[in-house]
Amino acid sequence: MLKYFFADMNIPRPLDDSLARINREINSLLGSVDKTVYDHGNNGFVFVGKAVRSRFTLLLGDALGLERGATERISAAAELVHTASLMHDDCIDRAALRRGLPTLNERRGVNTAILTGDLVVSFAFDYAAGIAPGAPGDLVRSVRRMTEGALLEENLRYKKIPAAQAERILELKTGELFRWCALTAAGIAKRPDLYEACGKIGRTTGVVFQIVDDILDFEGEAGFTGKEALKDITEGRTTLPLILALNDARFAEQIETGLAELKAAANGDLAPALRVAALVKENGFTESARAAAAAKTLALEKEISLLPEREAAGVFKDFIFTMSTRTK
Ligand code: IPE
Ligand code: IPE
Ligand code: MG
Ligand code: MG
Repeated sequence: MLKYFFADMNIPRPLDDSLARINREINSLLGSVDKTVYDHGNNGFVFVGKAVRSRFTLLLGDALGLERGATERISAAAELVHTASLMHDDCIDRAALRRGLPTLNERRGVNTAILTGDLVVSFAFDYAAGIAPGAPGDLVRSVRRMTEGALLEENLRYKKIPAAQAERILELKTGELFRWCALTAAGIAKRPDLYEACGKIGRTTGVVFQIVDDILDFEGEAGFTGKEALKDITEGRTTLPLILALNDARFAEQIETGLAELKAAANGDLAPALRVAALVKENGFTESARAAAAAKTLALEKEISLLPEREAAGVFKDFIFTMSTRTK
């Protein structure tokens, strides 16, 4: 499992044991498949990355007064869905590196990667039945909305996206799964009065997490993030730093020209992407995007204040803030 920089060890209930159990659970589920169909022991793929959805769910569950067993199950289902979505995403993006290793599409081909993604997500739905009666149906609907977000993004490649539309993509594509985790935890805690607050915390956390992921596509280094940089821009995805630059009269024209060059660029020609990225970074648009992300996490104060276990809610709040400050 990849390290996350949140200081898990300094909190009253460390996450390590729970994360190890989640990892084991996932490996045992996938290890049960007939090896001639799918050989889990030899797939060479790490199934849990930074485990941010798990950390989020475990810490929220602590703040709701839940047993770890319940939130570990929610986390395992979420990591399965998330990892399946990455297998498909890496085929779409033609990505070669994930979690510091060659992607499945790179090593075994796109067909195997797509089919393995389908296999993994079906395990998630099945597994969710053991969480709570409504959990699988809710998870299916959540995956539907994630997919809608990804399709919306696909339909808008190389285009100047209005801010509201960009927000909708973030909410659907990434916010939905965190929201499912949060709502399922509130349901198990029998706190329907907290659905609205937990739903908002989940959705916003996902949005902030994705905004920073999009920033790291400009700023990050593969050695830290475990994946290639400048993938979004070369594939024409107009994420928040680029949208902010497009909305600034001083740079709009240059960026629009850059986008047209990107669209026309032959595969493998990185020059236009490097030019657009330099313009975005040097003029402070990744910083502005990060400030927007930080403001969103700070605005969750009221919702977090409603969580019943106050000490755990404090830890959860610190964790949520690291969503906007992370650098890997
Ligand atoms: C990457 O997710 C895709 C996004 C939704 C931003 P993560 O950054 O959580 O990937 P892993 O699980 O740690 O590899
Ligand atoms: C993937 O988003 C989002 C999903 C929810 C599948 P990205 O395309 O930004 O993820 P990375 O950057 O490849 O990890
Ligand atoms: Mg991607
Ligand atoms: Mg990304």
